Amino acid sequence: DAVDRGEYPHYMLKEIHEQPQAIADTLEGRIAGGRILTQILGVEAERLLAETQSVHIIACGTSYHAGLVARYWIEQLAGVPCTAEIASEYRYRNPVVREGTLFLTISQSGETADTLAALKLSRQRPYLCRMAVCNVPESSIVRESELVLMTRAGPEIGVASTKAFSTQLVALALFALELARARGLDPARYSDGVRQLELLPGQVAQVLALDPQIRRLAEAFVQKQHALFLGRGTHWPVAMEGALKLKEISYIHAEAYAAGELKHGPLALVDADMPVVAVMPNDALLDKLKSNLEEVSARGGQLYVFADEDVATGMDKGHVLTLPRAGEIAAPVISTVPLQLLAYHVAVLRGTDVDQPRNLAKSVTVE
Ligand code: G6P
Repeated sequence: DAVDRGEYPHYMLKEIHEQPQAIADTLEGRIAGGRILTQILGVEAERLLAETQSVHIIACGTSYHAGLVARYWIEQLAGVPCTAEIASEYRYRNPVVREGTLFLTISQSGETADTLAALKLSRQRPYLCRMAVCNVPESSIVRESELVLMTRAGPEIGVASTKAFSTQLVALALFALELARARGLDPARYSDGVRQLELLPGQVAQVLALDPQIRRLAEAFVQKQHALFLGRGTHWPVAMEGALKLKEISYIHAEAYAAGELKHGPLALVDADMPVVAVMPNDALLDKLKSNLEEVSARGGQLYVFADEDVATGMDKGHVLTLPRAGEIAAPVISTVPLQLLAYHVAVLRGTDVDQPRNLAKSVTVE
């Protein structure tokens, strides 16, 4: 039974552990011979992708964070201008839309009131087409979109979204790579991206095996009032998602910052009582991130770093947890998983209602 907790004490933990399978399901039948099948997006996809000049991503909550990661991919791989915005702002700001813009909603439920309202508003603008990345096939958002890419996460019961997020990233990577291919992405970089997706279920399973270590790390957070999450590039939204998980279920105030922005404010908060969590991929911003973390360390901040195995050894400050080696597509997914586990264990240790945090709902169908 897909909605049975089975051996797990909470749905959230079960759903975190279902991610290798959910990711494999989301890729199933969508890649053949090292190529993504464009028609998985819809019959008109080939033409619409060729005509896409820019992308507007609209979503709420965790789905918005997936959109922020996708924004980097779409601009870096496809060279197509992209914005990502929360639906509750978009729908009231009178958005200006240029010709050739693809409107992309991301939603687990497909019923979030603000996202649905934004989608309806998009009909009054000259968008090229509407696309949905969604987990519920019969939902309103799917019905109202011309292109659809379903995540196949299965039912998600925990209010704090986990497997919906990682499968959204996978679906968005498929889209970004296809959009990029239509715009002449270097074939080697394309093939490498597809390969990263194919290897992802196994790599996420490897990260799940770090659970006992992450549980031990979680003990350091139990008595804290605040935590800061840092990342750069695609890992800034990963840090935002890590902070959101922690605040949702443990009720610890958590904030995410792009690490380069530290010195413009949050550095003033850093002291021995402030745990600072950083996600460290092996990318072009590595040295810059390292010097940001030096600044934290020099002020007595307690660092907890989740680092790609190729760069973990060079990190001599704080508590370092080593993640599998990952490229630009896989890394944000891989880095998210330990942050989910961290939030989960901190919440369990604090004795909160992990699956049903106070004041929150799984699906927000009223404004
Ligand atoms: C609520 C849920 C979140 C979710 C957000 C957007 O706040 O608690 O987990 O990310 O709604 O929901 P959607 O179904 O549109 O992804």
